[in-house]
Amino acid sequence: MVRLKYRYLDLRRPEMQRRLILRHKMVKMMRDYMDDRGFIEVETPVLIKSTPEGARDYLVPARLYPGSFYALPQSPQQLKQLLMVSGIDRYFQIAKCFRDEDPRADRQPEFTQLDVEMSFVQKEDVFDIIEPLLTDIVEKLSDKKLKFKPFPRLTYQDVIDRYGIDKPDVRFGMELFDLADIGNASEFQVFKNAAQIKGITAEGCANYSRGQIDELTEFAKKYGAKGLATIALTEDGSIKSPIAKFFKEDEIKAIIERAGAKIGDLILIVADRPKIVADALANLRNLMGGRLGLRDDSVLAFAWVIDFPLVEWKEDEGRWDAAHHPFTMPLEEDMDLLESDPGKVRSQAYDLVCNGSELASGSIRIHRRDIQNKVFNLMAYTDEEIQARFGHMLDAFEYGAPPHGGIAPGIDRLVMLLTDDDNIRQVMAFPKTASGIDPMTNAPSPVDEEQLKELHIKTVED
Ligand code: AMO
Ligand code: AMP
Repeated sequence: MVRLKYRYLDLRRPEMQRRLILRHKMVKMMRDYMDDRGFIEVETPVLIKSTPEGARDYLVPARLYPGSFYALPQSPQQLKQLLMVSGIDRYFQIAKCFRDEDPRADRQPEFTQLDVEMSFVQKEDVFDIIEPLLTDIVEKLSDKKLKFKPFPRLTYQDVIDRYGIDKPDVRFGMELFDLADIGNASEFQVFKNAAQIKGITAEGCANYSRGQIDELTEFAKKYGAKGLATIALTEDGSIKSPIAKFFKEDEIKAIIERAGAKIGDLILIVADRPKIVADALANLRNLMGGRLGLRDDSVLAFAWVIDFPLVEWKEDEGRWDAAHHPFTMPLEEDMDLLESDPGKVRSQAYDLVCNGSELASGSIRIHRRDIQNKVFNLMAYTDEEIQARFGHMLDAFEYGAPPHGGIAPGIDRLVMLLTDDDNIRQVMAFPKTASGIDPMTNAPSPVDEEQLKELHIKTVED
């Protein structure tokens, strides 16, 4: 708070200057690289019509139109697609994006993307532009090692199965294994009836004390787990486990074999609904990976995650919503499932992840009015809503839209990765606090009665 109030003094420190210089160099490299490959930078407006990216919009009252508002762009998504209709085949922009959501360690209400869109491309063409750029940035601007060259392509289903999360830290293994068959067939009530049972093996942790196990259990409970079952393969050859008594000897053997555990290892198991099992184990995996020194900051492990689901079910709204955004093209071979089984439809959306964080997101877009309409209908938009919110996009497609796709790496997160910062504020000159305020200028702040009147706005007490 004090640092942000006197940010101009904080920024005098050499380590802060180093961050700003690195950021400058990175953005310059991006501009030069894109220019060399025939991309042109086009600025898009900041006062626009609301565009859905899944967050809340910042609204700006329109003085001349009482009751009407501009929205600040959550990203230039629709505008860059419209530029494809204009025949700008290779677009990029160092773009400011605005999202009214609570700040987190890697999230600010305004942030910057390298926004990219290309015509006549498949996802591999997008990867072929971004991958060498990021490789170059890492190799020229840092002394970090890339674990994989080229970056591996992993399907969404694969990463959920193996890591429990769609932004896995693939610097290390410790993959999840499935115990449903063994557990469901056992007489242990918790496992017998569980929808899913999975585990991980923490190497060399068999000597964990009761207190340490309790602490891991409490940690797992933060993610909804009801308990944490452990099996320790102690050095003296015995097995230490509070659940061993519920199992036959060969069942325990089968679990150990499935876990690939050896003497000295600790097996951690969660049984629950799939989402809870995945959340708890993914977080335990990251925690144990850190403790065991497997998350080495001098290594960057980039990976592409592909074939995301097209839609997710919104329990509270009782409808399907876009998992990425509603302009994402379904996978050709899943198109038939749009009506019969929407939850199963995979999309042509992709993420670039690195060391457990999501760095970039993109997709091949829908460029046909009929498919776009089908997808909007699936998301339960009425015809009036579609016309009011997206009419301009659908109209534009009527004039001939090339197949197109793109991506947007988050620049702030990329800098964080190179500077080993765990808070995004460190890599921005003038960030906001965790509660979204700027203590230096005191924004946000009340405005004059006169200004409000001009805008036809009255504030009301809660
Ligand atoms: P998406 O919403 O996934 O995709 O954002 C892309 C990338 O932007 C970064 N990012 C953020 N960085 C800091 N603070 C935030 N609040 C924040 N939100 C997102 C992340 C993320 O991976 N229009 C699409 C891209 C496309 O389809 O081309 C989009 O904005 O690094
Ligand atoms: P209980 O039968 O509740 O005494 O639990 C016996 C053991 O199973 C304890 O070690 C619990 O931590 C563990 N346990 C309980 N519920 C679960 C669960 N849902 N998943 C994994 N382990 C569990």
